[in-house]
Amino acid sequence: MKKPLIVPVDQLIQEPYASVLCFPNPSEAELESRLHELRNHGITALEFSGTASLFGVAVPILGKGFVGIVVIAHVNGERVAVKIRRVDADRADLLHEACMLSKANSVNVAPRLMTASQNFLLMQLIDGDLLPNWLKTNRDAAAVKQVLGEVLEQCFRLDQVGLDHGELSKAPKHLLVDKTEKPFIVDFETASVERRVTNVTAVCQYLFAGNSTASKILTEIFGERNRLDLIDALKAYKKNRTREHFEGLLVFCLS
Ligand SMILES: Nc1ncnc2c1ncn2[C@@H]1O[C@H](COP(=O)(O)OP(=O)(O)OP(=O)(O)O)[C@@H](O)[C@H]1O
Ligand SMILES: [Mg+2]
Repeated sequence: MKKPLIVPVDQLIQEPYASVLCFPNPSEAELESRLHELRNHGITALEFSGTASLFGVAVPILGKGFVGIVVIAHVNGERVAVKIRRVDADRADLLHEACMLSKANSVNVAPRLMTASQNFLLMQLIDGDLLPNWLKTNRDAAAVKQVLGEVLEQCFRLDQVGLDHGELSKAPKHLLVDKTEKPFIVDFETASVERRVTNVTAVCQYLFAGNSTASKILTEIFGERNRLDLIDALKAYKKNRTREHFEGLLVFCLS
């Protein structure tokens, strides 16, 4: 494995790191202000490693989306994940996401929130793989069932507390599996406590009814499922989100 690149905060002013902190376009004022914000969190260095990358292969990172760039940060000798708000993001800050993440944490879902400010959200680092990639190398039916069962249980807990993730029907980048085979749901920036909850139904559609890489691999492992039966089980749960209906769905999806 390549040695991780650890860059102390006072060197982040240099390129290409300035462009990571203020992706995609750094200005001097924004960079100064973000470095200050970063130090206020007690971050002493950023670590560039991971399977995604910015600027070709020059800067390995944990992940990149439309809102943020996620990298490893060093705080008090600990390695955490930090989501850095892109300067072109359509959100003014990461505080709503922090609030939703904290609500998810209240039912033991998602990486633990540490702290957040306008441009940085610090959370538990998940050392693992995106679910579709994990499935490519983990075909053991019992292990896969255990992971998916836990994903569904987490979605049920989110449904129960009225927190809708909002992006679980297309979730190739929102489900991670760590080295102990524990799954984590990430990215609560479009989550809401005001919408009708659709976590269980959305994730079931993504995993068992869609055309995604994950659902294709699951069909290879478990065989073809009867779509109409799935729709019936989903309908029953949608109508009445009780433990009983949820378990009906579990039996259909995982046995
Ligand atoms: N706590 C974490 N530990 C490890 N990797 C993470 C963590 N949080 C996010 N990631 C990685 O970073 C990627 C991007 O994170 P996230 O989805 O929050 O960003 P985003 O900008 O909101 O993305 P999108 O625009 O796709 O919604 C994730 O898909 C995941 O691979
Ligand atoms: Mg997002």
